[in-house]
Amino acid sequence: MSTPPPLASGPQGPRHLRPLLDTVLDALHTGSGARNGPLPAGGPATVTAAVLDAVGEVLPDQGDPDALRTLVRVLAEGAADPAHPWCAAHLHCPPLAVAAAADLAASVLNPSLDSWDQAPAASALEALVTQALAREAGHTDSLVTTGGTEANQLALLLARELLGGTVRLVHAAGAHHSLPRAAWLLGLPDPVEIPAPAGTLDPAALDDALTHLPGPHLVAATAGTTDAGLIDPLPEIAARCAAHGARLHIDAAYGGALLFSDLHRPALAGLDAAHTITLDLHKLGWQPVPAGLLTVRDPGELTVLAHHADYLNADDDTDAGLPDLLGRSLRTTRRPDVLKIAVTLRTLGRAGLGALVDQVCAHAREFARLVRDDPRLELHDRPVISTVLFRPADADDTGVAALRRHLLTTGRAVLGRARADGRLWLKATLLNPAVRTDDLTGLLTLVHQAHAEGPR
Ligand SMILES: Cc1ncc(COP(=O)(O)O)c(C=O)c1O
Repeated sequence: MSTPPPLASGPQGPRHLRPLLDTVLDALHTGSGARNGPLPAGGPATVTAAVLDAVGEVLPDQGDPDALRTLVRVLAEGAADPAHPWCAAHLHCPPLAVAAAADLAASVLNPSLDSWDQAPAASALEALVTQALAREAGHTDSLVTTGGTEANQLALLLARELLGGTVRLVHAAGAHHSLPRAAWLLGLPDPVEIPAPAGTLDPAALDDALTHLPGPHLVAATAGTTDAGLIDPLPEIAARCAAHGARLHIDAAYGGALLFSDLHRPALAGLDAAHTITLDLHKLGWQPVPAGLLTVRDPGELTVLAHHADYLNADDDTDAGLPDLLGRSLRTTRRPDVLKIAVTLRTLGRAGLGALVDQVCAHAREFARLVRDDPRLELHDRPVISTVLFRPADADDTGVAALRRHLLTTGRAVLGRARADGRLWLKATLLNPAVRTDDLTGLLTLVHQAHAEGPR
């Protein structure tokens, strides 16, 4: 009988892992070096061909001892690297090394947070971290999610269970698409979209909608819009919701991390008035995916998620003091994503995280200044968090879209796109605290070069 492959956990786990980690780190190094830019050049066909070539057979008859090196290398070479200063399209952050290292431990130990007997210490840590993060937002407790989408879904689910299936979602035009999608998923009435000509939810228009539409209502405001990083006027919205008895959810998937910064926290005034808040530390929080949370002001509301499965939370086990974890998520098997978050919070402290937030916001301001001072470019507006919308002054929408794709397919830069004021803009979402002024001017030079290369 052949020897089984080595296991990651157990007393011998570290001994087995060490040489494999060397292989992974070498392959990451070689792969990223071979890419030599923020993403692979050549576009989808070239990348697919390279992956096909490296992978060969996905399930060969006989195993390949070099598979780890081969596959990690090809993935690194073909990655869009958010640590590269010219990879700035999405809310796709470069993860901190310490968080990635902690995530390795989570994979090795493999606790599953659906029952205490699979995750004794991890469940205790999760309780501490979720409460601590909720307190940062002025709330009491929070649930760990796979990101903003799942947190928004849970927020709508809580509203449906607490207010009934006729609860109607009211949101601004710039709200994240996962909100109306969650309404569809949960069988709620068609959501009401309030126009947001200035990019944010207009409290007067909200007041009008709440006055004329039959309730109950769930208002979803946003602290950090996906397209432009704008923050809705939270105190005014909270006041209108209170006046109409509407429930308030705030999607702070992007902007929530401003809480860590003394300088930027005031922009979130009014956040704690929400019944639920989406946070997402795999955006502005430098965590490997996934690292989402939904905070609740009233922890009693979470009882609507209570669920029973005898093999995981038998009543007599719960009565005997074993924590009942099943109502903390709609998932069953669940990774300890709090480990990397806890390690990050404690390693950096509030001051360290706040400094990172301040740095990326300062980079966005600097980038916006460079755009504004360049007559060949047009700046959409001053950044509120770390997103800057801009475009070549003489380009039309088709030109802007083609320019972005040209940068992508030549592997030179990853910029996003966003529509604002009826026009298409290039979007730079600056999430890398280590970028320098040279990187920012270099990015603009690339934009000019690509624009000069003309229509494609
Ligand atoms: C404001 C906002 N909410 C929610 C989400 C969804 O987050 P996730 O992609 O982590 O599910 C995003 C994603 O960009 C977002 O920008």
